[in-house]
Amino acid sequence: MKLYDGGKIITGLVIFVGLMLSPFILGMAKPGEKPDPKTDTPEIQEMEEKDRKCVEPKEFMRTSHMVFIDSWRDQALRDGDRVYENSEGKEIDISLQNTCMKCHSNKKKFCDECHNYMAVKPYCWDCHIVPEEKEGGV
Ligand code: HEC
Ligand code: HEC
Ligand code: HEC
Repeated sequence: MKLYDGGKIITGLVIFVGLMLSPFILGMAKPGEKPDPKTDTPEIQEMEEKDRKCVEPKEFMRTSHMVFIDSWRDQALRDGDRVYENSEGKEIDISLQNTCMKCHSNKKKFCDECHNYMAVKPYCWDCHIVPEEKEGGV
């Protein structure tokens, strides 16, 4: 697995989470069976190529977005601090709906495709508003 190559490790959290999740990460790496989450939404396509990235590096997001969103929620609700400074020093508004889902407005082809494959069903959408579905390629 290349996910844990030196430079890619951001924090000890990644290692911890990675170890906890390694069984399914390895499972996801089976050739031919991987879901293919699309990041070609209108919002993302409008970005300049050099800026076309997630709030943190892709590898980190892939393995750790669950704990990452949890820490966002804690920071926003427990600490009342709704601005996240990412590893590049960029300030980002903490919002599931207005930040994550603004870029990933193709929830079905992105979040759901992966989650269905892994048989996870986050309960977030019981309360949080599902974005209007916007796919790429238009
Ligand atoms: C500014 C637009 C933007 C925002 C905001 C954003 N993302 Fe992303 N996200 C992207 C892009 C672009 C990629 C693909 C990056 C790449 O290919 O290097 C990506 C990749 C990912 C991946 C990895 C997908 C894969 O193929 O493994 C996950 C998971 C993810 N994002 C979840 C989230 C979550 C959760 C949030 C909110 C905390 C979020 N993103 C916020 C643009 C965004
Ligand atoms: C590359 C695949 C992939 C993509 C894309 C992805 N997820 Fe996930 N997500 C997972 C996996 C795998 C888990 C299960 C982790 C576990 O079992 O601990 C998960 C778990 C979660 C959880 C925790 C659920 C729980 O019940 O513990 C949340 C919240 C979540 N994802 C939100 C999102 C959101 C929001 C998006 C879209 C912006 C997204 N994910 C996109 C793979 C993905
Ligand atoms: C029982 C209803 C409910 C559920 C279920 C729920 N949330 Fe929330 N969430 C809220 C409320 C209410 C707020 C506070 C909104 C505010 O003050 O802006 C909030 C705020 C947040 C925030 C910070 C601010 C924002 O606008 O995004 C994050 C991040 C978040 N939730 C993530 C999640 C995730 C991830 C899940 C699923 C694992 C989840 N929530 C499930 C009700 C819920």
